[in-house]
Amino acid sequence: MLLTNASIATMAHDRPPYGLVEHGAIAIDNENIEWAGPEGDLPEEFRSLPAEDLDGKVVTPALMDCHTHLIYGGNRVREFEMRLEGATYEEIAQSGGGILSTVKATRAASESELVTRALPRVDRMIGEGAATIEIKSGYGLDLDTELKMLRAARRVGKARPVRIKTTFLGAHALPPEYEGRADDYIDFVCEIVLPAAHQDRIADAVDAFCDRIAFTAEQVGRVFAKATELGLPVKLHAEQLSDSGGTATAASFNALSADHLEYLGDAGIAAMSKTGMIAVLLPGAFYTLGATRLPPIEGLRAAGVPMAIATDCNPGSSPVASPLAILNMACTLFRMTPEEALAGMTRNAARALGIERESGTVEAGKHADLAIWNIDHPSELAYYLGLNALHRRVYKGRLY
Ligand code: NIG
Ligand code: FE
Repeated sequence: MLLTNASIATMAHDRPPYGLVEHGAIAIDNENIEWAGPEGDLPEEFRSLPAEDLDGKVVTPALMDCHTHLIYGGNRVREFEMRLEGATYEEIAQSGGGILSTVKATRAASESELVTRALPRVDRMIGEGAATIEIKSGYGLDLDTELKMLRAARRVGKARPVRIKTTFLGAHALPPEYEGRADDYIDFVCEIVLPAAHQDRIADAVDAFCDRIAFTAEQVGRVFAKATELGLPVKLHAEQLSDSGGTATAASFNALSADHLEYLGDAGIAAMSKTGMIAVLLPGAFYTLGATRLPPIEGLRAAGVPMAIATDCNPGSSPVASPLAILNMACTLFRMTPEEALAGMTRNAARALGIERESGTVEAGKHADLAIWNIDHPSELAYYLGLNALHRRVYKGRLY
């Protein structure tokens, strides 16, 4: 297939902004991009491919949501109301609600139910141009339910035209049956649950939650040591509610990313830049929780730490299934530029998932996963809120 007359935001670099190629063409063979560039330079061999004239529409890499918890049972609308009445996220968590209330509902749900209930969220993301979605476990916190969640995530990838990357998040919260025995729970995660997920090949990476309502940096380090032993990459929910030092631990394990980062300090920024980690910023959680402390965007920029953004889609801190809304929030709340926001859901999201060699930009050799938009310039993607300009999506080289 050949796409012609396209404004291609290749996102391969930022000079010109967006790596923009006007009057561009993209040649696709099977599932990969064979060639992309100015139409006038199109090599002879591709000129006879069946062409689709895009009439100047903007083409970007398909969006990539690199941090979600979109598989879960129940919802937490009651907590939404409690927060409106003045309770904080931390208070709700400490009184046994929060993540643990979703754990109860997720344990009670069947695997098929989890898939069925996740699909509308996935469909919304696909409908806004996403082609890769990361999904975490972490609402099971026991052997059966953690594995059930990861299997459900894999099934979502078979049910829909989307690439799913799974992440094991067994160290998300302390389950009630381990109350007062956090270290024993971490032993259980390291010795039983994580090895089982790895054995079944249902975990592509390992995440944890380091904060005062979750686990210490030392406990996270034990989980990461096990992940490393099994050959799985790691990433971390870090410095969301307090500066707990998780980012430094993550850096010491060569983590792909540290995520949230509202309370990240200079030492954490330095550790990230030294090890080439990605900062995954989650404006949906910041917005939903009415947070006031911004992640240190300026410091990350100055240190050259690449920034990704994601929905963090989950029933508690970010009931958001709209990647486009997140592009907008990254700009309005975090003062990122529209170009940084789009890079955060394409090129840098791919780096946060460790798939930058095959995904995240419009370049020869990459996956032919593209989004075609009814707009004149890529900056419009972050500008609108509640207006979906998606025209078509290309997934694995096929037009949808
Ligand atoms: O990314 N911070 C921890 N985990 C999730 C929230 C999970 C929940 O509240 O259910 C997050 O915000
Ligand atoms: Fe999260």
